[in-house]
Amino acid sequence: MAPAEPDEVAQSTPAQHVQEEEAAWRAIVAAVLGDGAELVSVSRYITDSRTYRAGDRLAKIRRIDPAWPADAGMEVEAGFLRSLGREVDYTQRDGWEVSVQDVLPGSTFSSHLFDQQETSFTTGDRVRVLRSLVPELRALHRQGISHGDLRTDNILVEGDAVRLVDFDRAARTSPRRAALRDWVGIGGSPTPFWKLAAVSLAPKSLTAARRLRYQLVKNRPAAKVAGEPRDVARLRDAWHLAEQSAANARGQGLAYYALSYRGRHLSGERAWPLRWDPIAASVDFTGKRMLELGCNMGLLSNFAKMHGAAETHGVDHDPTIVDAARTVADAFQTGSTFEQLDLMGSERWEERLSGYDLVTALSVVHWLPDRDRVLRFLARHAELLYEGHDELPDEIALLNSLGFDQVDVVLRTERDRHVLYARRTGG
Ligand SMILES: C[S@@+](CC[C@H](N)C(=O)[O-])C[C@H]1O[C@@H](n2cnc3c(N)ncnc32)[C@H](O)[C@@H]1O
Repeated sequence: MAPAEPDEVAQSTPAQHVQEEEAAWRAIVAAVLGDGAELVSVSRYITDSRTYRAGDRLAKIRRIDPAWPADAGMEVEAGFLRSLGREVDYTQRDGWEVSVQDVLPGSTFSSHLFDQQETSFTTGDRVRVLRSLVPELRALHRQGISHGDLRTDNILVEGDAVRLVDFDRAARTSPRRAALRDWVGIGGSPTPFWKLAAVSLAPKSLTAARRLRYQLVKNRPAAKVAGEPRDVARLRDAWHLAEQSAANARGQGLAYYALSYRGRHLSGERAWPLRWDPIAASVDFTGKRMLELGCNMGLLSNFAKMHGAAETHGVDHDPTIVDAARTVADAFQTGSTFEQLDLMGSERWEERLSGYDLVTALSVVHWLPDRDRVLRFLARHAELLYEGHDELPDEIALLNSLGFDQVDVVLRTERDRHVLYARRTGG
């Protein structure tokens, strides 16, 4: 065999980039926390920053980026946390920054507001959280510290106690400036208190405002970063579209998934590796034709294609998110196809879309007014990847009733739901 040309060696495919990225993370996480650490979150703003948990230890890890200003590093954040009396162990190793601290009790304000499992939170509870935050913020400002990013998932709620976390946008300034920045956003804060209050008290009206904003900005391309490779630039375009779509969390203007690719971080509400890694470990996509219902940004279709699927097709009723999914396919050059389709619409799409080797319906059936229509469609197929929002035994019973005699749990999500791999073995 002829030796490979240097250019051939240097040019990795998108699929190789994806695998290299995950291998790099696995290595640093194992070095810091040992085996079995679980990915808890991925930063929306800071390049390549993730938080992992093992037992009661929490490690925030970030690839050192020489382009990042020195006063915005995690060491600075660790300093802020220490001035609030929290213990943080900060180190740098092998090109990564790592800060380790104990897990704090409580769950995020966003999980109380937006997650299905925690919907019992009343308007009174929301007001109580906002009120409890006022003395916390005042104490911070007296020290001349502004938090700078009062998003609902930077606030931990535990009974009556409220704690601020994630100080990666904090700044040290005068008490007056700190207060102006956090209360009203003067001096640069993406989420000052008034916005936090608006999101937590009136999420529905904000969603409407976001749709309107999308109408105004949809033709504007994502900000370009000079010299970026084409695949990364196209992914930025896709994320920009996804941020404007109505197919993600209310009031946050965030894409549904966060992804690190070739050392760049694309912000999102949920960490894609958290979902993809266990799916890739359980499902063999090789040579299969796959249909993805409620595909959102189409990451599953695109990644399945990069992991050997013969053909993938995704459908979603939101036109903007379908544009985003197509743009992801263009970035990764996968050839995955997508279409806008309302599963509840008048078209009898069932005939046209029957016959795929594998159908996926992850967190979509739950949202449909006529679930039976889609469940009948799923029952026509031999292999199904499914995520519902009910208790595990009920989900398994449902899939059994559709004729799937083998049902395996692929993953329990960070939202406490199960992704199930269901098959008809004919046994
Ligand atoms: C919670 S997201 C899940 C996305 C993706 N399946 C995943 O698990 O990451 C639900 C998706 O279903 C889509 N959806 C909701 N109702 C739909 C309908 N009637 N027809 C098609 N898609 C729908 C939404 O636009 C959204 O992208």
